[in-house]
Amino acid sequence: MDDRPKRERIISGQPQEEDLEEVPSLRPRTLEEYNVGQDRLITQLRIAIQAAQARGECLEHVLFDGPPGLGKTTLAYIITREMGAEMHRTSGPSLERAADLVGVLTNLRRGDVLFIDEIHRIPRPVEEYLYPAMEDFHLDFVVDRGPYAKTISLKIEPFTLIGATTRAGMLTAPLRERFGIFHHLDFYSAEQLRQIVLRSAAILDIPLEEEGAQVLAERSRGTPRVVNRLLRRVRDYAQVVAQGVITGEVARRALEEMGVDERGLDPLDRKYLQAMIDYYSGGPVGLNALAATLSEDEDTLQDVVEPFLLKIGFVLRTARGRMATQAAYDHLGIAKQAPEPPAGQDNLTLELE
Ligand SMILES: Nc1ncnc2c1ncn2[C@@H]1O[C@H](COP(=O)(O)OP(=O)(O)O)[C@@H](O)[C@H]1O
Ligand SMILES: [Mg+2]
Repeated sequence: MDDRPKRERIISGQPQEEDLEEVPSLRPRTLEEYNVGQDRLITQLRIAIQAAQARGECLEHVLFDGPPGLGKTTLAYIITREMGAEMHRTSGPSLERAADLVGVLTNLRRGDVLFIDEIHRIPRPVEEYLYPAMEDFHLDFVVDRGPYAKTISLKIEPFTLIGATTRAGMLTAPLRERFGIFHHLDFYSAEQLRQIVLRSAAILDIPLEEEGAQVLAERSRGTPRVVNRLLRRVRDYAQVVAQGVITGEVARRALEEMGVDERGLDPLDRKYLQAMIDYYSGGPVGLNALAATLSEDEDTLQDVVEPFLLKIGFVLRTARGRMATQAAYDHLGIAKQAPEPPAGQDNLTLELE
Protein backbone atom coordinates (compact mmCIF):
# COMPACT_ATOMS: atom_id res chain seq x y z
CA MET A 1 0.00 0.00 0.00
CA ASP A 2 2.36 2.64 1.23
CA ASP A 3 5.88 2.01 0.03
CA ARG A 4 7.65 4.90 1.72
CA PRO A 5 10.46 3.59 3.89
CA LYS A 6 9.13 2.95 7.39
CA ARG A 7 11.31 3.85 10.27
CA GLU A 8 11.41 1.51 13.25
CA ARG A 9 10.63 3.75 16.10
CA ILE A 10 9.44 2.96 19.58
CA ILE A 11 7.33 6.04 19.75
CA SER A 12 6.23 6.16 16.17
CA GLY A 13 2.51 6.56 15.88
CA GLN A 14 2.60 4.51 12.69
CA PRO A 15 1.34 0.96 12.93
CA GLN A 16 4.09 -1.62 12.99
CA GLU A 17 4.13 -5.38 12.57
CA GLU A 18 3.62 -6.07 16.26
CA ASP A 19 0.48 -3.92 16.37
CA LEU A 20 -1.10 -5.75 13.47
CA GLU A 21 -0.52 -9.15 15.00
CA GLU A 22 -1.96 -8.12 18.31
CA VAL A 23 -3.82 -11.16 19.69
CA PRO A 24 -6.04 -10.77 21.60
CA SER A 25 -6.89 -7.48 20.00
CA LEU A 26 -6.62 -4.31 22.06
CA ARG A 27 -8.82 -2.44 19.61
CA PRO A 28 -12.10 -1.40 21.20
CA ARG A 29 -14.94 -2.96 19.20
CA THR A 30 -17.90 -0.85 20.26
CA LEU A 31 -18.55 2.83 20.92
CA GLU A 32 -19.02 1.83 24.55
CA GLU A 33 -15.49 0.40 24.76
CA TYR A 34 -13.98 3.27 22.80
CA ASN A 35 -15.50 5.86 25.07
CA VAL A 36 -12.53 7.20 26.98
CA GLY A 37 -13.34 10.83 27.55
CA GLN A 38 -14.48 11.43 23.97
CA ASP A 39 -18.08 12.00 24.96
CA ARG A 40 -18.92 14.55 22.32
CA LEU A 41 -17.79 12.42 19.41
CA ILE A 42 -19.40 9.28 20.78
CA THR A 43 -22.73 11.03 21.33
CA GLN A 44 -22.66 12.56 17.87
CA LEU A 45 -21.88 9.24 16.21
CA ARG A 46 -24.44 7.32 18.23
CA ILE A 47 -27.20 9.76 17.27
CA ALA A 48 -26.17 9.79 13.62
CA ILE A 49 -26.07 5.99 13.48
CA GLN A 50 -29.45 5.57 15.20
CA ALA A 51 -31.10 8.18 12.99
CA ALA A 52 -29.73 6.59 9.82
CA GLN A 53 -30.87 3.18 10.94
CA ALA A 54 -34.34 4.42 11.81
CA ARG A 55 -34.66 5.89 8.31
CA GLY A 56 -33.25 2.74 6.75
CA GLU A 57 -30.52 4.81 5.13
CA CYS A 58 -26.75 4.73 5.04
CA LEU A 59 -24.84 6.81 7.52
CA GLU A 60 -23.53 10.09 6.11
CA HIS A 61 -19.93 10.04 4.91
CA VAL A 62 -17.46 10.45 7.77
CA LEU A 63 -14.01 12.01 7.81
CA PHE A 64 -11.52 11.49 10.64
CA ASP A 65 -8.46 13.64 10.83
CA GLY A 66 -5.58 13.56 13.30
CA PRO A 67 -2.07 12.29 13.98
CA PRO A 68 -1.32 8.56 13.64
CA GLY A 69 -2.31 6.19 16.44
CA LEU A 70 -5.26 8.11 17.90
CA GLY A 71 -8.00 5.76 16.76
CA LYS A 72 -9.14 6.66 13.24
CA THR A 73 -9.05 3.11 11.90
CA THR A 74 -10.54 1.79 15.12
CA LEU A 75 -13.48 4.18 14.77
CA ALA A 76 -14.05 3.12 11.18
CA TYR A 77 -14.35 -0.51 12.31
CA ILE A 78 -16.63 0.45 15.20
CA ILE A 79 -18.99 2.40 12.95
CA THR A 80 -19.11 -0.45 10.47
CA ARG A 81 -19.99 -2.84 13.23
CA GLU A 82 -22.61 -0.61 14.82
CA MET A 83 -24.24 -0.15 11.41
CA GLY A 84 -24.22 -3.92 10.95
CA ALA A 85 -22.38 -3.24 7.71
CA GLU A 86 -19.52 -4.77 5.79
CA MET A 87 -16.23 -2.90 5.37
CA HIS A 88 -14.18 -2.59 2.20
CA ARG A 89 -10.78 -1.21 3.04
CA THR A 90 -8.37 0.63 0.80
CA SER A 91 -6.00 3.58 0.93
CA GLY A 92 -5.29 6.74 -1.03
CA PRO A 93 -1.92 5.64 -2.41
CA SER A 94 -3.28 2.32 -3.67
CA LEU A 95 -5.99 4.05 -5.74
CA GLU A 96 -3.51 4.96 -8.42
CA ARG A 97 -5.78 4.86 -11.44
CA ALA A 98 -9.43 5.72 -11.88
CA ALA A 99 -10.07 2.08 -12.73
CA ASP A 100 -8.91 1.06 -9.24
CA LEU A 101 -11.50 3.26 -7.61
CA VAL A 102 -14.25 2.40 -10.07
CA GLY A 103 -13.58 -1.28 -9.39
CA VAL A 104 -13.98 -0.75 -5.66
CA LEU A 105 -17.10 1.39 -5.99
CA THR A 106 -18.95 -0.93 -8.36
CA ASN A 107 -18.31 -3.85 -6.01
CA LEU A 108 -20.05 -2.20 -3.08
CA ARG A 109 -23.32 -3.62 -1.91
CA ARG A 110 -26.13 -1.58 -0.42
CA GLY A 111 -25.13 -0.18 2.99
CA ASP A 112 -21.47 -1.19 2.81
CA VAL A 113 -18.74 0.96 4.32
CA LEU A 114 -15.82 1.99 2.15
CA PHE A 115 -12.86 2.92 4.33
CA ILE A 116 -10.14 4.94 2.61
CA ASP A 117 -7.06 5.45 4.75
CA GLU A 118 -4.70 8.32 3.90
CA ILE A 119 -7.44 9.75 1.78
CA HIS A 120 -5.39 12.92 1.12
CA ARG A 121 -3.12 10.86 -1.08
CA ILE A 122 -5.66 9.91 -3.75
CA PRO A 123 -4.47 11.34 -7.05
CA ARG A 124 -6.66 14.23 -8.14
CA PRO A 125 -8.01 12.72 -11.39
CA VAL A 126 -9.07 9.65 -9.45
CA GLU A 127 -10.62 11.73 -6.69
CA GLU A 128 -12.98 13.38 -9.15
CA TYR A 129 -14.81 10.10 -9.61
CA LEU A 130 -15.60 10.15 -5.92
CA TYR A 131 -17.64 13.35 -6.03
CA PRO A 132 -20.76 12.04 -7.80
CA ALA A 133 -20.32 8.68 -6.10
CA MET A 134 -20.50 10.31 -2.70
CA GLU A 135 -23.17 12.81 -3.61
CA ASP A 136 -25.83 10.70 -5.26
CA PHE A 137 -24.30 7.30 -5.79
CA HIS A 138 -23.40 7.30 -9.43
CA LEU A 139 -20.30 7.40 -11.59
CA ASP A 140 -19.81 9.60 -14.62
CA PHE A 141 -17.67 8.44 -17.52
CA VAL A 142 -16.78 10.30 -20.65
CA VAL A 143 -16.58 8.03 -23.66
CA ASP A 144 -15.26 8.89 -27.10
CA ARG A 145 -13.64 12.18 -27.92
CA GLY A 146 -14.30 15.43 -29.66
CA PRO A 147 -17.76 15.87 -31.15
CA TYR A 148 -18.73 12.29 -30.29
CA ALA A 149 -17.84 12.57 -26.66
CA LYS A 150 -20.68 11.76 -24.32
CA THR A 151 -21.09 11.16 -20.65
CA ILE A 152 -22.42 7.89 -19.38
CA SER A 153 -23.78 7.66 -15.91
CA LEU A 154 -23.64 4.43 -13.96
CA LYS A 155 -25.56 3.88 -10.77
CA ILE A 156 -23.87 2.35 -7.75
CA GLU A 157 -25.33 1.13 -4.47
CA PRO A 158 -25.72 3.60 -1.59
CA PHE A 159 -22.73 3.32 0.74
CA THR A 160 -20.91 5.19 3.49
CA LEU A 161 -17.45 6.49 2.83
CA ILE A 162 -15.21 6.75 5.87
CA GLY A 163 -12.02 8.67 5.19
CA ALA A 164 -9.00 8.95 7.48
CA THR A 165 -6.23 11.46 7.08
CA THR A 166 -3.30 12.93 8.99
CA ARG A 167 -3.60 16.10 6.88
CA ALA A 168 -7.12 17.39 6.47
CA GLY A 169 -5.58 20.57 5.07
CA MET A 170 -4.41 18.67 2.01
CA LEU A 171 -7.91 17.59 1.03
CA THR A 172 -9.48 19.53 -1.79
CA ALA A 173 -12.52 21.61 -0.94
CA PRO A 174 -14.93 19.60 -3.12
CA LEU A 175 -13.95 16.39 -1.37
CA ARG A 176 -14.11 17.88 2.11
CA GLU A 177 -17.54 19.36 1.49
CA ARG A 178 -19.00 15.96 0.71
CA PHE A 179 -18.49 14.60 4.20
CA GLY A 180 -21.49 15.00 6.51
CA ILE A 181 -19.54 14.23 9.67
CA PHE A 182 -16.07 15.60 10.24
CA HIS A 183 -14.12 14.93 13.37
CA HIS A 184 -10.64 15.98 14.39
CA LEU A 185 -9.00 13.59 16.83
CA ASP A 186 -6.74 15.24 19.34
CA PHE A 187 -4.08 13.79 21.61
CA TYR A 188 -5.36 12.00 24.72
CA SER A 189 -4.79 13.18 28.26
CA ALA A 190 -2.61 11.16 30.62
CA GLU A 191 -5.76 10.20 32.53
CA GLN A 192 -7.40 8.80 29.39
CA LEU A 193 -4.24 6.89 28.49
CA ARG A 194 -4.04 5.54 32.01
CA GLN A 195 -7.50 4.02 31.61
CA ILE A 196 -6.58 2.64 28.20
CA VAL A 197 -3.37 1.01 29.37
CA LEU A 198 -5.06 -0.54 32.41
CA ARG A 199 -7.67 -2.03 30.09
CA SER A 200 -4.97 -3.32 27.73
CA ALA A 201 -3.00 -4.86 30.61
CA ALA A 202 -6.14 -6.65 31.80
CA ILE A 203 -6.78 -8.02 28.31
CA LEU A 204 -3.18 -9.17 27.88
CA ASP A 205 -3.03 -10.42 31.48
CA ILE A 206 -0.02 -8.29 32.37
CA PRO A 207 0.51 -7.37 36.04
CA LEU A 208 0.53 -3.57 35.89
CA GLU A 209 0.53 -1.55 39.08
CA GLU A 210 -1.29 1.80 39.35
CA GLU A 211 1.96 3.74 39.41
CA GLY A 212 3.31 1.79 36.44
CA ALA A 213 0.17 2.72 34.49
CA GLN A 214 0.64 6.36 35.45
CA VAL A 215 4.26 6.39 34.23
CA LEU A 216 3.34 4.74 30.91
CA ALA A 217 0.44 7.14 30.41
CA GLU A 218 2.56 10.21 31.00
CA ARG A 219 5.24 9.10 28.55
CA SER A 220 3.15 8.01 25.60
CA ARG A 221 2.91 11.25 23.66
CA GLY A 222 -0.84 11.41 24.10
CA THR A 223 -1.22 8.40 21.80
CA PRO A 224 -3.11 5.15 22.51
CA ARG A 225 -1.05 3.17 20.02
CA VAL A 226 2.12 4.28 21.78
CA VAL A 227 0.86 3.44 25.27
CA ASN A 228 -0.02 -0.08 24.12
CA ARG A 229 3.34 -0.49 22.46
CA LEU A 230 5.24 0.74 25.52
CA LEU A 231 3.20 -1.65 27.66
CA ARG A 232 4.43 -4.59 25.61
CA ARG A 233 8.04 -3.43 25.63
CA VAL A 234 8.01 -2.81 29.35
CA ARG A 235 6.40 -6.19 29.93
CA ASP A 236 9.41 -7.86 28.28
CA TYR A 237 11.74 -5.84 30.43
CA ALA A 238 9.79 -6.63 33.61
CA GLN A 239 9.83 -10.33 32.79
CA VAL A 240 13.58 -10.41 32.47
CA VAL A 241 14.62 -8.15 35.33
CA ALA A 242 11.69 -7.72 37.73
CA GLN A 243 9.67 -10.96 38.05
CA GLY A 244 7.12 -9.70 35.56
CA VAL A 245 5.38 -7.03 37.59
CA ILE A 246 5.31 -3.51 36.11
CA THR A 247 5.76 -1.16 39.02
CA GLY A 248 6.37 2.56 38.64
CA GLU A 249 10.07 2.01 39.12
CA VAL A 250 10.26 -0.80 36.58
CA ALA A 251 8.38 1.31 34.03
CA ARG A 252 10.68 4.27 34.56
CA ARG A 253 13.82 2.18 34.24
CA ALA A 254 12.63 0.32 31.17
CA LEU A 255 11.60 3.51 29.38
CA GLU A 256 14.86 5.17 30.24
CA GLU A 257 16.68 2.25 28.69
CA MET A 258 14.61 2.70 25.52
CA GLY A 259 15.50 6.37 25.40
CA VAL A 260 12.00 7.59 26.26
CA ASP A 261 12.21 10.57 28.61
CA GLU A 262 9.80 12.03 31.20
CA ARG A 263 7.83 13.93 28.59
CA GLY A 264 7.63 10.86 26.36
CA LEU A 265 10.12 12.21 23.82
CA ASP A 266 12.22 9.57 22.10
CA PRO A 267 15.66 9.88 20.49
CA LEU A 268 14.27 11.19 17.20
CA ASP A 269 12.24 13.92 18.92
CA ARG A 270 15.30 15.06 20.79
CA LYS A 271 17.49 14.86 17.69
CA TYR A 272 14.95 17.05 15.89
CA LEU A 273 15.03 19.70 18.62
CA GLN A 274 18.79 19.48 19.06
CA ALA A 275 19.40 19.93 15.32
CA MET A 276 17.10 22.93 15.24
CA ILE A 277 19.00 24.49 18.11
CA ASP A 278 22.57 23.51 17.17
CA TYR A 279 22.47 24.16 13.43
CA TYR A 280 19.80 26.83 13.10
CA SER A 281 20.07 28.69 16.43
CA GLY A 282 16.55 27.56 17.31
CA GLY A 283 15.02 28.62 13.98
CA PRO A 284 13.07 29.69 12.11
CA VAL A 285 14.04 26.86 9.81
CA GLY A 286 12.17 25.21 6.94
CA LEU A 287 11.00 21.63 7.19
CA ASN A 288 13.03 20.57 4.16
CA ALA A 289 16.27 21.93 5.61
CA LEU A 290 15.64 20.16 8.91
CA ALA A 291 14.76 16.92 7.16
CA ALA A 292 17.97 17.09 5.15
CA THR A 293 20.04 17.80 8.26
CA LEU A 294 18.52 14.82 10.05
CA SER A 295 18.47 12.56 6.96
CA GLU A 296 14.81 12.03 7.74
CA ASP A 297 11.72 11.85 5.62
CA GLU A 298 9.75 15.14 5.65
CA ASP A 299 6.47 13.28 6.01
CA THR A 300 7.74 11.43 9.08
CA LEU A 301 8.75 14.68 10.72
CA GLN A 302 5.51 16.37 9.83
CA ASP A 303 3.10 13.53 10.64
CA VAL A 304 4.82 11.80 13.53
CA VAL A 305 7.32 14.09 15.24
CA GLU A 306 5.92 17.60 14.98
CA PRO A 307 2.27 17.32 16.03
CA PHE A 308 3.13 16.34 19.59
CA LEU A 309 5.99 18.83 19.92
CA LEU A 310 3.58 21.55 18.77
CA LYS A 311 0.95 20.29 21.16
CA ILE A 312 3.23 20.52 24.20
CA GLY A 313 4.59 23.88 23.08
CA PHE A 314 8.18 22.82 22.34
CA VAL A 315 7.95 23.96 18.73
CA LEU A 316 6.25 26.89 17.03
CA ARG A 317 5.33 27.11 13.39
CA THR A 318 5.64 30.53 11.93
CA ALA A 319 5.27 31.64 8.34
CA ARG A 320 9.08 31.60 8.10
CA GLY A 321 9.59 28.11 9.49
CA ARG A 322 9.81 26.04 12.66
CA MET A 323 11.19 27.44 15.88
CA ALA A 324 12.22 25.85 19.18
CA THR A 325 10.67 27.44 22.27
CA GLN A 326 12.22 28.15 25.65
CA ALA A 327 10.45 25.05 27.01
CA ALA A 328 12.40 22.92 24.51
CA TYR A 329 15.72 24.53 25.50
CA ASP A 330 14.93 23.95 29.17
CA HIS A 331 13.87 20.37 28.59
CA LEU A 332 17.13 19.56 26.79
CA GLY A 333 19.08 21.35 29.53
CA ILE A 334 20.50 23.96 27.15
CA ALA A 335 21.30 27.10 29.12
CA LYS A 336 20.54 29.58 26.36
CA GLN A 337 17.78 31.94 25.44
CA ALA A 338 15.36 30.68 22.79
CA PRO A 339 14.99 33.00 19.78
CA GLU A 340 12.08 35.46 19.82
CA PRO A 341 9.27 34.45 17.48
CA PRO A 342 8.67 37.02 14.75
CA ALA A 343 6.20 39.61 16.01
CA GLY A 344 2.57 39.46 15.04
CA GLN A 345 2.66 35.90 13.81
CA ASP A 346 0.61 33.16 15.22
CA ASN A 347 1.70 29.63 15.64
CA LEU A 348 0.12 28.01 12.59
CA THR A 349 -1.75 24.82 13.21
CA LEU A 350 -0.84 21.69 11.34
CA GLU A 351 -4.09 21.52 9.44
CA LEU A 352 -3.15 24.56 7.43
CA GLU A 353 -0.41 22.88 5.45
N1 LIG B 1 -10.35 5.27 22.42
C1 LIG B 1 -9.51 4.23 22.49
N2 LIG B 1 -9.55 3.39 23.52
C2 LIG B 1 -8.69 2.34 23.61
N3 LIG B 1 -7.75 2.05 22.70
C3 LIG B 1 -7.66 2.85 21.63
C4 LIG B 1 -8.53 3.98 21.46
N4 LIG B 1 -8.19 4.59 20.31
C5 LIG B 1 -7.18 3.89 19.79
N5 LIG B 1 -6.84 2.84 20.57
C6 LIG B 1 -5.75 1.87 20.37
O1 LIG B 1 -4.76 2.50 19.59
C7 LIG B 1 -4.43 1.69 18.47
C8 LIG B 1 -4.26 2.60 17.29
O2 LIG B 1 -5.51 3.03 16.83
P1 LIG B 1 -5.81 3.19 15.26
O3 LIG B 1 -7.29 3.24 15.12
O4 LIG B 1 -5.10 2.13 14.48
O5 LIG B 1 -5.17 4.63 14.99
P2 LIG B 1 -5.06 5.47 13.63
O6 LIG B 1 -5.87 4.76 12.58
O7 LIG B 1 -5.60 6.82 13.99
O8 LIG B 1 -3.61 5.53 13.29
C9 LIG B 1 -5.55 0.67 18.33
O9 LIG B 1 -5.05 -0.59 18.00
C10 LIG B 1 -6.19 0.61 19.69
O10 LIG B 1 -5.65 -0.50 20.39
MG1 LIG C 1 -5.05 3.91 10.84
